[in-house]
Formats: sequence, structure tokens, C-alpha cells
Amino acid sequence: MAETKSKILIVGSTGFIGKHLVEASAKAGHPTFALVREPTLSNPAKSKIIQSFKALGVNFVLGDLYDHDSLVKAIKQVDVVISTVYHSQLADQRKIITAIKEAGNVKRFFPSEFGNDVDRAHAVEPAKTTYAVKADFRREVEASGIPYTYIVGNFFSGYFLPTLNQPGATAPPRDKIVVLGDGNTKAIFNKEQDVSTYTIKAVDDPRTLNKILYIMPPGNTVSFNEIVSLWEKKIGKTLEKIHVPEEQLLKKIQEAVEPIKSLLCYGYSVFVKGDHTNFEVEPTFGVEATELYPDVKYTSVDEYLNQFV
Ligand SMILES: NC(=O)c1ccc[n+]([C@@H]2O[C@H](COP(=O)([O-])OP(=O)(O)OC[C@H]3O[C@@H](n4cnc5c(N)ncnc54)[C@H](OP(=O)(O)O)[C@@H]3O)[C@@H](O)[C@H]2O)c1
Repeated sequence: MAETKSKILIVGSTGFIGKHLVEASAKAGHPTFALVREPTLSNPAKSKIIQSFKALGVNFVLGDLYDHDSLVKAIKQVDVVISTVYHSQLADQRKIITAIKEAGNVKRFFPSEFGNDVDRAHAVEPAKTTYAVKADFRREVEASGIPYTYIVGNFFSGYFLPTLNQPGATAPPRDKIVVLGDGNTKAIFNKEQDVSTYTIKAVDDPRTLNKILYIMPPGNTVSFNEIVSLWEKKIGKTLEKIHVPEEQLLKKIQEAVEPIKSLLCYGYSVFVKGDHTNFEVEPTFGVEATELYPDVKYTSVDEYLNQFV
């Protein structure tokens, strides 16, 4: 008998990561439901995404995080809820918990995570508060008894590689580059499409139930210095390196304004403190995606950088 694929609702479907999850879900053959706010449907900035959902046969569900009845109605139609709401709404995800409890049919909930393991990160403000809100929400999910999976996707390639982590830049640098710390700490970069593919694979997988799914492809676990070397080879040029030691970085973070402040904070957590790689994934709390799904062909950092040469 053919295995039935869970019906999936994405709350935050038209966002940066949400749209890739919708696509991955539909392409994997899951009946896919996108919660969309009414004004978004007619927002010209979102029309390409809406058209792509239509082409994929996605079911549109009109609704809003702040409209309880719309959430319950949407959730009743599916088996699995994935949230990809943004930082300012992370705490408001408790509205999803309330709606899931009322609907009573959900087999798995994926809260808006998709970054660092927030229980094991060493951040400074303002990232510290964002991580704390995500960690507190994990405790609320666990207390609710709703089955869950947390996706630790580490850095999205699309956020960090197009500029090689140079805040304000529009392309990878070709003459000099700022290196946070000594540049030797290993970080992990995952293309948004790959994060989405692994997430959707986890939906019906008992091995990821009530666990953290870490996406740690060995080929994408690289130090900043290694990325710079890859880039230098591609452009046939050696870049001047400007190192920012830890103390100086902390001072820069204090003085910076958004969005650079947050970017420097993530850089501190990952490139200086090593928050992607400075702990062991224990089977009691986590599983690793490339081990569970070796068949997925992920995009390596090396391949990703080719588009910018
Ligand atoms: N690892 C990384 O490098 C990385 C990078 C970025 C983000 N992330 C994480 O990914 C997660 C999602 O971030 P993102 O950048 O994808 O967010 P985003 O682009 O801001 O998307 C948020 C989504 O929520 C929707 N939304 C807003 N208000 C809503 C409401 N009242 N009701 C229902 N939906 C509403 C938005 O709809 P509209 O389209 O209608 O505005 C949008 O689709 C966060 O947890 C973030 O920390 C990780």
C-alpha cells in the first residue's frame, strides 16, 4: 500500500524561508496549504510567489496569526503545521499552540527556528534576546504536549554567502575582506532549498519526532578562512584580510545600528564562538539530516560561490 503523505500547512508561507518550504512540500507530493493574509494575495511584491504557488497546485488558506478562528480552520485541514514567522512574532506563536490544541488533529509542529541551536548558543544582544525567545518557545511547545521537531538549519547560504558576510556589500569582495576572529572556527552554510528539502523529509519520519534536526552537511562545514580561499581560487586573486579580534567585535556590535548590529551578532556567535559546531549532537536530543537522508544532493559552499565569479 502506498504511504500517505501528511498534509502540511505553512504559516509564514510567503516569507524568505516559507516560500521554499511550500515549494519543497508540494514537490515532495504532500498536499500543501499556504496560510496567506488577504492583502498579501494582491501585493505586487508577492505576486511572483503567489503565481509559483498556483503553478505548484498549493491550496491557499486565507488567515492571520492574530485571527484565532482562521488559524483553527486552517489547522483542521492538515496533519502538520510549519511556522516560519519572523523574529517580532516568535512569542506570538503561542497563538498557534492554542489553535493546534483546539483543532486537536495535529501530528507534528515545526516552530519558527531554522537557525542556530538556541539552547546551545553564546550570543550577545540583540541576538541574545531573539535566541532566548526561541528557546522559551521551545519550552512552551514541550509543555503543550504537541509532537514537535526543531530545525537547526544553521546559516542560510542566501543570507551570508552573496556578500561573504560583509555587511552592506552587494557582492563578494574582490580586494579586501573583513574576517571576524581568527577565521578558523567551523561554521555551517545551507542553501534555503536544501533546508526546506530536509525539513519536509522530517515531517513523516519517526526518527525526528520530538527531536532537533541538525542540518550539518560535512561539505558545508567550513571555516571563514576556507571560504575565503575557495573564493580567492575562483577569482584568481589574493584578498587583503582585515581581522577583527573578539574584543573589538564586541565594541563594534555595541556601536552599530540595525541591520548591521544583528549581522555582527550572528557573526560573533558563529565565527567567534563556534555556535554551529562547538557541541556534540547527542541521540537523546538530536539527529543529523545528511545521516538520515544521504540521498539528498545538497549544494556545497564551493558550488554556491560559482554564481558570483
Ligand atoms: N539561518 C539563517 O540564516 C536565517 C536567516 C533568516 C531567517 N531565519 C529564520 O527563519 C525564520 C523565518 O524568517 P524569515 O526571514 O523567513 O521571515 P520573513 O521573510 O519575514 O517571513 C515571515 C512570514 O510571516 C508572514 N506573516 C507576517 N505577519 C503575519 C500574520 N499576522 N499572520 C500570518 N503570517 C504573517 C509574512 O507574510 P507576508 O509575506 O504577507 O508579509 C511572511 O510570509 C525565523 O525564525 C528566522 O530566525 C534564519
